[in-house]
Amino acid sequence: MPPANLPKDRLRLAIQKSGRLSTDSLDLLKACGIKVKSPKEKLLLHADNFPLDLLFVRDDDIPQLVMDGVCDLGIVGQNVLEESALERGTTSAYVVERTLDFGGCRLAIALPEERPYTGLKDLAGLRIATSYPQLTKRYFAQQGVPAEIVTLSGSVEIAPRLGLADVICDLVSSGSTLEANKLRAVETIFKSTAALIRNARPLNPEKAHAFDIVLRRLDGVQKAAGTKYIMLHAPRANLTEIRKLLPGSENPTILPLAGDDSKVALHAVCAEDVFWETMDALKQAGASSILVLPIEKMML
Ligand code: PRP
Ligand code: ZN
Repeated sequence: MPPANLPKDRLRLAIQKSGRLSTDSLDLLKACGIKVKSPKEKLLLHADNFPLDLLFVRDDDIPQLVMDGVCDLGIVGQNVLEESALERGTTSAYVVERTLDFGGCRLAIALPEERPYTGLKDLAGLRIATSYPQLTKRYFAQQGVPAEIVTLSGSVEIAPRLGLADVICDLVSSGSTLEANKLRAVETIFKSTAALIRNARPLNPEKAHAFDIVLRRLDGVQKAAGTKYIMLHAPRANLTEIRKLLPGSENPTILPLAGDDSKVALHAVCAEDVFWETMDALKQAGASSILVLPIEKMML
């Protein structure tokens, strides 16, 4: 049961206090119009303009806080979530409401650079250091390769040098931690991004209403993230050709240009990024004054 002293009408969201997801999580809230002052100095912060409170915690604690109902919502890596769910033996205590487009990483098996590797069978019987014992155990069981798991809560990358393990299974994001420790990734066992999760029990009507607004705004932000607004001048004669070049756009707005009947202005939302190659092709097709603008929010 959730603690009885929680406010009934304010959503409580757990986010990472400091780490790979914290800045992006706060930026996402900001993009959704949810304002928080001086984050991270406190454990709990109230949003000024929205019925939502933020709890700043270690990422590893977030699944549990949500599953136990201490928080209604959490933003957490799917890697941490899956590990926690395996440990708990159930995925029924939470719902993944949205996967998010940040926090990308993979859980990978990495070996000392000099260690030869031809395939998973080379790892049979070795000691594998990891902070993700459940995911690692599951992978080796699925592959039918016996391995000894050494669970460490941090600094997994130094385990081979300390003689604590032969190889590791750790998160790789940019790859610089592996490189700095002369390790190389040989197998990816889990791919992850951040996700917004919710406690599986239904929210009360006030919270449910607030959460609908959060989701709608979040979808608007995520949808807009990959889109661009393009404006250009096009010779009327080349309009069909130019329209074909615009990535993922439907029904552009065509406007007359004052004082020039041979050209029109074209405005369109492109569902994909507009790359320099597209700009070059547009120019070749006779377009001029090409502007590409980011879209901040979108609601269809
Ligand atoms: C992971 C992992 C490595 C690092 C890899 O830690 O344990 O230390 O990120 O990133 P890189 O490939 O960009 O060098 P994480 O951010 O999950 O921190 P935590 O274990 O303290 O939560
Ligand atoms: Zn962590």
